[in-house]
Amino acid sequence: MDTFRPVADNLRNAEKLVFVTGAGISQESGIPTFRGKDGLWRKYDAMKLATIDAFYEDPKLVWEWYEERRQNILAAKPNPGHVAIAELERHKQVHVLTQNVDGLHQRAGSKLVYELHGSIITIKCTVCDFKDKITSSLSELPPLCKCGNILRPDVVWFGEPLPQDVWQDAMLQASSCDVMIVVGTSLAVSPANLLPVYAKQNGATIIEVNPEETPMSSSMDLSLRSSAAKALPELISIVSK
Ligand code: APR
Repeated sequence: MDTFRPVADNLRNAEKLVFVTGAGISQESGIPTFRGKDGLWRKYDAMKLATIDAFYEDPKLVWEWYEERRQNILAAKPNPGHVAIAELERHKQVHVLTQNVDGLHQRAGSKLVYELHGSIITIKCTVCDFKDKITSSLSELPPLCKCGNILRPDVVWFGEPLPQDVWQDAMLQASSCDVMIVVGTSLAVSPANLLPVYAKQNGATIIEVNPEETPMSSSMDLSLRSSAAKALPELISIVSK
């Protein structure tokens, strides 16, 4: 129960909590992270799969990888880390700025979720404005749109801009929160890794939950070497007092 003791008063007195989450918060739901010892990038070359050029060079290969991830994600369940963040909404204003595309925050019940890197559940056309959530498995890869063009996952690939409306909102929330909790992200990818900087610049208390150190660990008010599913449920008992 002492995990968050150094920042317990800031948490209790906070009106607005903002979470910045990455692949690590879904690791305990059985979804592999990208970097780190057993990360996805160890087996796949990111630059061969998560870029627009790779997609147009070999759409079938990229789709095979995404469809494998989609099935894994659709079979996964939110873990106590996701559930704790959703439960906090009963006590505080909570915004979740996530780099994850797995939709597990929403499935855990979080209402205000900003998907900075899009969603793997949503599929869109590469040409016309077709876009829809598709949870069934895709038999034909690459899938084709009714207009005859290839469909793609509605995710942000390396070199592509973030959805501007989502990014503007995320910066606004990061710059106007009392406490920011950064969970399960290596903070290796910009511009998402700027969000804790904006929070700190605007006087927020910043907390990190990650079994490993990150480039911002030394700038945190509290950096916990712990996992999301272990540490986050303790937040409820602090803010609900
Ligand atoms: N609880 C908390 N953190 C964890 C856990 C856990 N159970 N397991 C691993 N981690 C931490 C790792 O130590 C690592 O710092 O989660 C982090 C995952 O880092 P990455 O794999 O780099 O994932 P992320 O930061 O989300 O990557 C950002 O890069 O590949 C792109 O678009 C992709 O959104 C992704 C972005």
